[in-house]
Amino acid sequence: MELYYRNKKSKDEILKLAEEIAIDTNISIESNTIVQGENFNILSILLKCGFKGKIDLIYIDPPFSTNLDFVVSQNRISTISKPKSGIVAYSDKLCDEEYIEYMRERIILMRELLSEQGSFYFHIDTKIGHYIKIILDEIFGKKNFINDITRKKSNPKNFERKAYGNEKDVIYFYAKNKGNHIWNDVRVSYSNVELDEKYYKTDANGRRYNTVPIHAPGESQGDTGREWKGMLPPEGRHWRTSPKELSILDAKGLIEWSANGNPRLKRFADEHQGKKIQDIWLDFKDYAYPDYPTQKNLEMLELIVKQSSNEDSIVLDAFAGSGTTLLAAKKNNRAFIGMDKEKYAIKVMENKLGDLDLISKNTTFLNLSE
Ligand SMILES: C[S@@+](CC[C@H](N)C(=O)[O-])C[C@H]1O[C@@H](n2cnc3c(N)ncnc32)[C@H](O)[C@@H]1O
Repeated sequence: MELYYRNKKSKDEILKLAEEIAIDTNISIESNTIVQGENFNILSILLKCGFKGKIDLIYIDPPFSTNLDFVVSQNRISTISKPKSGIVAYSDKLCDEEYIEYMRERIILMRELLSEQGSFYFHIDTKIGHYIKIILDEIFGKKNFINDITRKKSNPKNFERKAYGNEKDVIYFYAKNKGNHIWNDVRVSYSNVELDEKYYKTDANGRRYNTVPIHAPGESQGDTGREWKGMLPPEGRHWRTSPKELSILDAKGLIEWSANGNPRLKRFADEHQGKKIQDIWLDFKDYAYPDYPTQKNLEMLELIVKQSSNEDSIVLDAFAGSGTTLLAAKKNNRAFIGMDKEKYAIKVMENKLGDLDLISKNTTFLNLSE
């Protein structure tokens, strides 16, 4: 399947353009660098100066084709189409196929930069996102699509429009090679309320626990289908572990017997590995008072960085804005490369990373826009 539109270049044409740009420059970029400039050019230079196949994680949150200017005035950071005052932090005026092709050219270069264990996250809204999904399937291959994450971006809206309130946007998650991608299986702890609900019993030592059946669906002809303490597993089921192991668990007091002789396995709250993270994210809303228009939630970026990169990884954001991704990378001891074409964004990034004393001596700011 492919998306057809006017003036769609071939992948070869795009890569050739990138090569030509890189040949014409003798600039060299290292990791832990923030670059001001047009990202197609910077990505082209990165491909030339040793980063091809070297980046483990790319997150991008580009303009969403809103036809708006994003403005910063003295008192507030806002989104208005015709600002009367304040400076335009960035402009988002590309639409339809022009927008799609602009993104596609850059995604093609970013995929070239990804390592064989690399992951790619594309943050977008639901108006244009479906077209982007088709482009991502084309570039990465449908088989490398992993998740379509729904992010709750705001509180419920009670606008007058004849429509349901729009509280969400989406993040498309792909791998260069699905299955080979870095996946640290980050888990989240239960809240106290959830702990009370799930682990509703307390043992003599004050430990919270619950119980689960000692058998599971499916019959077995092997060990787990054999008799234990005069009982066979119920029809169509097998013991979760061998009769020998069940006896060991019982001797350790890890099996609870009900009044009518039904054995169940005890599971303790303090041994729980945490909850598997699902594809609906409710806890990473936009900030009420951001440093930069459309700034994303730092905890969300920290989760993505921890999940899809390691301490020796390089994390890249080609539409860095206020530098949330770079800050998340730096806080978690990853190297980073960030870029934005706007001077205002670079200023916010410098302040943000500098304020937290995170700019190490070898962090460089490069200006390629002049
Ligand atoms: C939505 S903002 C990113 C916000 C960021 N995720 C944050 O948390 O602050 C998109 C950014 O992409 C930048 N941008 C747009 N087109 C670009 C291009 N071709 N090259 C470099 N930066 C670009 C804009 O200047 C803007 O700062």
